Amino acid sequence: MTNVLKVNRWNPEPEIIARAAAILRDGGLVAFPTETVYGLGADGLNARAAGRIFAAKGRPPDNPLILHLSGPDDAARLAEIDARAGSVMEAFWPGPLTLVLPALPVVPKEVTAGLDTVALRMPDHPVALALIEAAGRPVAGPSANRSGRPSPTDADAVAADLGSRVDLVLDAGSVEIGLESTVIDLTEREPLLLRPGGMPRERLERFLGEPLRVPGGAGRDAERRSPGTRHRHYAPAVPVLVWDGGELPPDADPRSSGFVGMAPPPAKFAWTLLFGSAENYARGIFAAFRSLEAREGCRHIVAEWPRPEGLGLALRDRILRASGNSEGGTG
Ligand code: TXA
Ligand code: MG
Repeated sequence: MTNVLKVNRWNPEPEIIARAAAILRDGGLVAFPTETVYGLGADGLNARAAGRIFAAKGRPPDNPLILHLSGPDDAARLAEIDARAGSVMEAFWPGPLTLVLPALPVVPKEVTAGLDTVALRMPDHPVALALIEAAGRPVAGPSANRSGRPSPTDADAVAADLGSRVDLVLDAGSVEIGLESTVIDLTEREPLLLRPGGMPRERLERFLGEPLRVPGGAGRDAERRSPGTRHRHYAPAVPVLVWDGGELPPDADPRSSGFVGMAPPPAKFAWTLLFGSAENYARGIFAAFRSLEAREGCRHIVAEWPRPEGLGLALRDRILRASGNSEGGTG
């Protein structure tokens, strides 16, 4: 049902990349691996193609897309790049960092969801970079899940969610990071953290020499929040409850629940998936959600609440949103 091609992660086969790039240039959809999660790619300068992404995902039309680039030089054709934005790209690309910048008119409104800004990222993955290069244009790409579901960290998860809604899936195995990129807004003097992600906040703040502010809930600030974070997200079919290291959440019976986290829980669960470190937890959490929701008799998922450092900040954000708390902050 889904058209999947295996591709070598380190040395992508040129004929496979050429086939995928031709689909993109014809206005089709290609799911591709990045270092964070799998993306659902379309020609980022073709409004109709970008529109197909929203239909395939069931994505709310007010949630803009990231344009993926194969190098910082392409950014100047799409957005206004000042000295600070240039130095951040130089320091952190390729990598799990997305920059929101003032958009140039060439960027379709379907990509920006009507905003006057555009999100840009250069992924750190040979297959993604080869595909963008061969397509010869920016590749619009949200995570390749149905809207609201956990992001896909392997090709099976893409196929399970999107089936034949995608023209081709490039399968390069499991991703390295497992959580989406960090999104920062550099459109005004004060840099904003719109979404915590794979690039730790501390590293960015050290580089910028100032704190990243997290926009609040009202007025202009609310508009500038990452629009995608308004919606319920990352949620498996089974309810997710948070365990903060104290009492277990009273609603979950461990005998009919799955546990995901780093350290062993204080009770015997029907299913226990332990990851040891925040890095491994990040890499495995979405696949763990998908695996547990498929177990016969699993009624709840209890997820350990990590410390808000390094990848822990992004993990907290995803766990909170998966548990249905859309006001999940970043602390
Ligand atoms: O790691 C990632 O970022 C993955 C891989 C595939 O690159 N992509 C991804 O895309 O997570 P998506 O669409 O699932 O999330 C993009 C986030 C959303 O929260 C969206 O609202 C925000 O970026 N965003 C995109 N354009 C924006 C803009 N112009 N202003 C503010 N936020 C924007
Ligand atoms: Mg997403």
